Amino acid sequence: MVNPVQDTAIHIDNVCFAYSGKQALHDVSLEIPSHKITAFIGPSGCGKSTLLRCINRINDRIAGARITSGTVRIHEIDIYRKDIDIQELRRRVGMVFQKYNPFAKSIYDNVVFGLKIAGMTKRSELDAAAEAALTGAALWDEVKDRLHSSALGLSGGQQQRLCIARAIANEPDILLMDEPCAALDPLATLKIEELMLELKKKFTIVIVTHNMAQASRCSDRTAFMYLGKLIEYGDTLQIFRNPSDKQTEAYISGAFG
Ligand SMILES: Nc1ncnc2c1ncn2[C@@H]1O[C@H](COP(=O)(O)OP(=O)(O)OP(=O)(O)O)[C@@H](O)[C@H]1O
Ligand SMILES: [Mg+2]
Repeated sequence: MVNPVQDTAIHIDNVCFAYSGKQALHDVSLEIPSHKITAFIGPSGCGKSTLLRCINRINDRIAGARITSGTVRIHEIDIYRKDIDIQELRRRVGMVFQKYNPFAKSIYDNVVFGLKIAGMTKRSELDAAAEAALTGAALWDEVKDRLHSSALGLSGGQQQRLCIARAIANEPDILLMDEPCAALDPLATLKIEELMLELKKKFTIVIVTHNMAQASRCSDRTAFMYLGKLIEYGDTLQIFRNPSDKQTEAYISGAFG
């Protein structure tokens, strides 16, 4: 018998979240499947980034910000348990941001940064890992002859793919992407979208996007949020073609947001 739980990478159960007492998420529950792309959509300020950041505890860095109730489990492990190793959690749950943020270092040093911190020292191993990550991020052919040049000399789309390479070099299970294409032109966006479809074979992907066409093109599951609540969550085709909630329908048809 197929156990549905096996295919769920992330369980978010009844999560409430507040910034210095101001509630930003209200009782949010959803199960995010493995090796699929799940999109969080909704108008500005509805809590998409907050929810995404609960999945690798990046919110912990914000003073006064915390989950006030509920749980987040990754492969059945409660990531808010006291004994969780945060460094290991962030290795397993990589993140890519809207404003691509490569370090002011060489392309090579960007990719192997996390591996060196994790203790990898052998040049041949680092070289192989860098090539694998850059290949995985569809960037290798464009940069293989200039690995030791500055990452800041790359185009925006290339810098974002470098950030993806940097995240996947650590061999995460999950990739969180917060509006990864918002600062890119349409061609660079298309390239990242193609890449995501390739990456989901290896990783579970959760993406925040304002781009409805992008959500419907790329994602398998879509969660529509409004005012800190999860309004509707389902298969992307159903959400876009036949939403069951009036607010979802209004948002995807462009009536607000
Ligand atoms: N660091 C913070 N400190 C205090 N309040 C915050 C912080 N970050 C977000 N908020 C508030 O929490 C709510 C949810 O914000 P969040 O950034 O999660 O929304 P979002 O859906 O990602 O919006 P956008 O589409 O504009 O990125 C908003 O009311 C926002 O003002
Ligand atoms: Mg956001």
